[in-house]
Amino acid sequence: MRIVINRNADTPIYLQIKNRLREMIFSDVLPAGTILPPERSLAKSLEVNRSTVIKAYQELKADGLVDSHVGKGTIVLSQAKQAALPDGYINPLPWYQLFTETIAGSNDNIIGDIMAITGGDDLISFAGGIPAPSLYPVEIMREIQADLYRKTSREMFLHSPVEGHYPLRESISYLLRQRQIAASAKDTVILSGSQQGLDFAARIFIRPGDTVLVEEPTFFGAIQIFRSAGARVIGVPIDQDGLRTDVLEALLVRHRPKFIYTLPTFQNPSGVTLSLERRYQLLNLAYQYQLPVLEDDPYGELYYDSAPVPPLKALDRHGYVIYLSTFSKSLFLGLRVGWITAPPQVLAKFAHLKQMTDLHVNTPAQFLLDAFIRRGDYDNHIALLRQEYAGRRDRMLEALGKYKVPGTSWNKPLGGYYVWCRLPDNIVRHKLVANAGKRRVVFLPGEAFYPDGTQGDTHVRLNYTFVNPDQIEPGIKHFMQAVRETATDRDLENEHNIKPLV
Ligand SMILES: Cc1ncc(COP(=O)(O)O)c(C=O)c1O
Repeated sequence: MRIVINRNADTPIYLQIKNRLREMIFSDVLPAGTILPPERSLAKSLEVNRSTVIKAYQELKADGLVDSHVGKGTIVLSQAKQAALPDGYINPLPWYQLFTETIAGSNDNIIGDIMAITGGDDLISFAGGIPAPSLYPVEIMREIQADLYRKTSREMFLHSPVEGHYPLRESISYLLRQRQIAASAKDTVILSGSQQGLDFAARIFIRPGDTVLVEEPTFFGAIQIFRSAGARVIGVPIDQDGLRTDVLEALLVRHRPKFIYTLPTFQNPSGVTLSLERRYQLLNLAYQYQLPVLEDDPYGELYYDSAPVPPLKALDRHGYVIYLSTFSKSLFLGLRVGWITAPPQVLAKFAHLKQMTDLHVNTPAQFLLDAFIRRGDYDNHIALLRQEYAGRRDRMLEALGKYKVPGTSWNKPLGGYYVWCRLPDNIVRHKLVANAGKRRVVFLPGEAFYPDGTQGDTHVRLNYTFVNPDQIEPGIKHFMQAVRETATDRDLENEHNIKPLV
């Protein structure tokens, strides 16, 4: 039996064995009735512990693919075997056979893993994309909430319209005007975070086998969603001016994508902003090739010096841009309120999906947000965040400079949440994660942000908004110590010639 084990992979060895056996069972290389090798002999031939094989067999059994009988060994099951089972015996449900191909194939749960990591108390976490907890406007929210519960009629406890609470849509139209986007309340639909917008876009536009273009690197949640809808996700490289529009045209001709997903302002993870010139180039290519543009803008209003160039939506004169934004990065993630503005035909499809999926966003949250914006609290809060996050960014850049290890470089973000840090060549990523983990520091490895998952081991994403500002310097010191410990001396001699993304 040929099972190749990759001892450097992140996937545990028992899972590699299980996955390979599962493949062989599904492809009939191991047909029903086949007796799998005894645990001890398979363990010996694979040079692994017997307990590793036992665990792999147990997983196969839990999935209903094999059964084990004392004296007979582990036997591959089939549906037909059901009839021959002893009275009262029920086969375990073979869940894997019931999942659709796209969902069965998507095993990575990076978002869930980060949510778990960022929960630890003694950890210095540069991993998540979370606003500063100390800046949550709790007192103001409490005051508004008390007021709402005192004064508001029953309306706050009923269903809202599918498209969202109309006054909040008006308030969002006000926020959009500040971003130079002319959209009335009726041009918006409120969503449960922009993640829901990405999911709806996938459901509206993607058929299995379609191609979607994304920046490379890009937000991993989007890669996950598009892929689970069956899309081929193809990356367009970026440089310090954002998406490489010169490369884009060739990819458009070759792949005829369904749409392009882009984060043009303070991109996640690179922090880069698409220049004005390239924004026009991207739109002109979109017009020429009839390419919808899905613009995701969670970070644009969080600028530190001057306002960035206008969103693509503000520059689009022909209704090609679908624009998503959210309150997750400006207020707090748990609100789960975001929105879309798009041409009416597209907006109607988003509203239809909203109705089918969960009817509407939580009504009290919409009332709360609307009051927060109308009272001017939102504008004040954003002004505070700009100032605070600029300070945190500076602390991180200063610490990176102070503890720099040869071969590392990074960008200076002008807004948003992230520093994208290049590592010395050839560093073994999982060793770096382990060495940093020993020092109780976490970050996000770069490959999460690449559609093919094989690139990106040259970079890590460091978030500076979430940690207590006083922890930034010790955290970066430990991070750089972990880099030094992980890299070989030869790697450290190689300074990169590559300009960091600015
Ligand atoms: C680029 C990008 N898009 C979407 C999201 C999801 O945002 P929301 O919480 O509004 O669903 C995030 C969150 O990290 C993000 O960085």
